[in-house]
Amino acid sequence: MSADQEMRSPLEISEGVRLFRDRLERAEQSALVAELREVARRAPFYTPAMPRSGRPFSVRMTNCGPLGWVSDRAGYRYQPTHPETGWPWPAIPPRLLDLWDEVSGYPHPPEACLVNFYDAEAKMGLHQDRDEADFAAPLVSISLGDSCRFRLGGVERTDRTRSFVLASGDVLVLAGPARLAFHGVDRILSGTSTLLAGGGRINLTLRRVTKAG
Ligand code: SIN
Ligand code: MN
Repeated sequence: MSADQEMRSPLEISEGVRLFRDRLERAEQSALVAELREVARRAPFYTPAMPRSGRPFSVRMTNCGPLGWVSDRAGYRYQPTHPETGWPWPAIPPRLLDLWDEVSGYPHPPEACLVNFYDAEAKMGLHQDRDEADFAAPLVSISLGDSCRFRLGGVERTDRTRSFVLASGDVLVLAGPARLAFHGVDRILSGTSTLLAGGGRINLTLRRVTKAG
């Protein structure tokens, strides 16, 4: 992180929603992508399925950290192992733990880092992140690669929503009154970044899962 980035204060989009534009400079983004490639080598991306219907997600997923978020016919949950290989998830790269310390304002480390890969057609419907035992810790979301049109609502599904673009290197924090805000990805803006050789978008979501202490 450059001194300039350190000095820049986030955009406070609404109460609890903080957007750090260009928080990761290009060299850091590339280093992170290399680390994620190693994560994906040890915990391959897989296609999760919707609870009950078993309908496949358009997004492919993997995780790092002591716990990983998974979804299949049995439901949403966190578990310590990859659903297909049965292996433990790889560790969260230290630079992400540092970033959490810098932007989360939360004194305990994250336990899960969900890694989502979106190809040009992938999207994610409006949802809340509510499978965690403690909502005191914020969500920290990092965007890499192609930009997306991100949609953000309130804590009720029927609340008015707004959309904005998230670009490579942006970091979004949902905290406090926004911790349970509905959010989703309307579409990927293909060809907007050269970071990922084959195109597409990676999103990382750092989460605290269990109650600390
Ligand atoms: C998510 O909610 O898991 C991902 C959000 C995003 O891709 O920005
Ligand atoms: Mn989410």
